[in-house]
Amino acid sequence: MVALTRIEAKVQEFLEELQSPLVLELSANLQSGKMLRSKLALNIAAESEESVCLCAIVEMIQSASLLHDDVIDNATTRRNKPSINALFGDKNAIMLGDVLYSKAFGELTTFQKTYPLIPRIIANAVTTLAIGEMEDVELSKEFNDDEAKYLTMIEHKTAALIEATAYAAAFLAGKNEKDAERFQIYGRSLGVAFQIIDDVLDIVADSKDLGKPALSDFKEGKTTLPYLYLYHLLDDAGKIRLRKAFKRDLEAKEQEWVLEQLHTSGAITKSIGLARHFGKVGVEAIANQSCDKLIEIMHAMIDRDF
Ligand code: IPE
Ligand code: MG
Ligand code: MG
Repeated sequence: MVALTRIEAKVQEFLEELQSPLVLELSANLQSGKMLRSKLALNIAAESEESVCLCAIVEMIQSASLLHDDVIDNATTRRNKPSINALFGDKNAIMLGDVLYSKAFGELTTFQKTYPLIPRIIANAVTTLAIGEMEDVELSKEFNDDEAKYLTMIEHKTAALIEATAYAAAFLAGKNEKDAERFQIYGRSLGVAFQIIDDVLDIVADSKDLGKPALSDFKEGKTTLPYLYLYHLLDDAGKIRLRKAFKRDLEAKEQEWVLEQLHTSGAITKSIGLARHFGKVGVEAIANQSCDKLIEIMHAMIDRDF
């Protein structure tokens, strides 16, 4: 998609404006990902100077959140490549994240005059995302068997920015408030489903494709949805065994048991089922908007392998 290249060029242009060789040296090591948020925005608002600018802002925010996330999670790889914190240390990763966030916010002010709602929509989403990261850290302290807490946390850390991107893009596309809200619901549902699938893939996907070791979530203290469902499906002895495996570097035999239980109990299928439920909610919200591409994006996201 030519537009995606245009967005990457816009990000580069914003970074060059900072006139800092240090920033350029570090940011050259950022990997652009699937650009889900940009694809979403461009399928709601047509390609234009404004939409490309909004996408570049959102991509910078997304990169900043991942820079900080990799420090928080002590992650040494991101998208199959060494993470910025692994290459240049935590301090540089944190500061580059701050540079990207603040440059993005500065650029956001250019929308103030023509689309006064957009800066607030995006800024609020970043606040929510940060709160979500705090909730994730908090939930990771102990085994979590509360589905509602998990769902609230992923709605904050992941869905908020996707939701805000869809909502803002709808205003760019000239939608009225009521219709813009439909895209907002779609974005939120896509975001929640996205994170559930991400959490499922940590268990079922090939670690080479994932760009990080498989089954790493549970070891890192994250009781993601499949583990949470498995817990409720196990008998008392199984529950004790699963709790014992939490946050541990497991021996092969124990790891196999956890993996087998996740599959045979139906916990993985049930998790994918919930992602599909959110997918349906999102697709229904935009049903009268003749946006077939968004339906396609939702299905492709749920049925992806990595
Ligand atoms: C991603 O969170 C970071 C944000 C949503 C801000 P995770 O820690 O769950 O995701 P990965 O696995 O590092 O991408
Ligand atoms: Mg992480
Ligand atoms: Mg994290």
